[in-house]
Amino acid sequence: MEIFLDTGMVDEIREAAKWGVIDGVTTNPSLIAKTGRSQADVIKEICEIVDGPISAEVIATDAQGMIKEGQELAKIHDNVVIKLPLTEEGITACKWFSDNGIKTNVTLCFSVNQAFLAAKNGATYISPFIGRLDDIGHDGMQLIDEIRTVYDNYGFTTKILAASIRHCTHVRDAMMVGADVGTMPINVVKAMFKHPLTDKGLSQFLADHAKANA
Ligand code: E4P
Repeated sequence: MEIFLDTGMVDEIREAAKWGVIDGVTTNPSLIAKTGRSQADVIKEICEIVDGPISAEVIATDAQGMIKEGQELAKIHDNVVIKLPLTEEGITACKWFSDNGIKTNVTLCFSVNQAFLAAKNGATYISPFIGRLDDIGHDGMQLIDEIRTVYDNYGFTTKILAASIRHCTHVRDAMMVGADVGTMPINVVKAMFKHPLTDKGLSQFLADHAKANA
């Protein structure tokens, strides 16, 4: 499973990029708003740090507006992926982008039927939001599992990008059900490194080494 960082904060991206495990970045209007900068500036800078797919979301809600905005975003860098909401207008725009060779990430997906429509129109990525489904008492991971089955049944190549990941158990479960990508905040990536037995074992090794070499 590829790991994308879900943030607009370039310092975080720089820090995580050093570990060598980050394959791409996703942003959304809320994450960009937190930076206090323009989306174009943030996306440009991210593209200089990470050589992989970088999702930038449109604000327009009509297909023509999304196409216009997406074309401008796509000019920023070859790695820019146009993020579109899962609405009739977003799915219409998705078809235009796939027909014109521009990569898309269809976002705010909460059902397998929605994921099916995005794949039919050639979405590069579908983003089911696990955490937000869990928040309302649904089972986010079950949705990833269902989409995996449906995409495999029909041979769709749209990549399943598990989004709204909140903790390491989400990451583990997303890998177990075959998500292609997981996008997550930096604290979740940091937590993936951790295990108390690793820390305990390392302390012991270092203590034994120091004793033997005292
Ligand atoms: C995905 O692309 C979204 O930006 C993100 O994963 C949403 O996560 P949240 O539900 O924690 O806001």
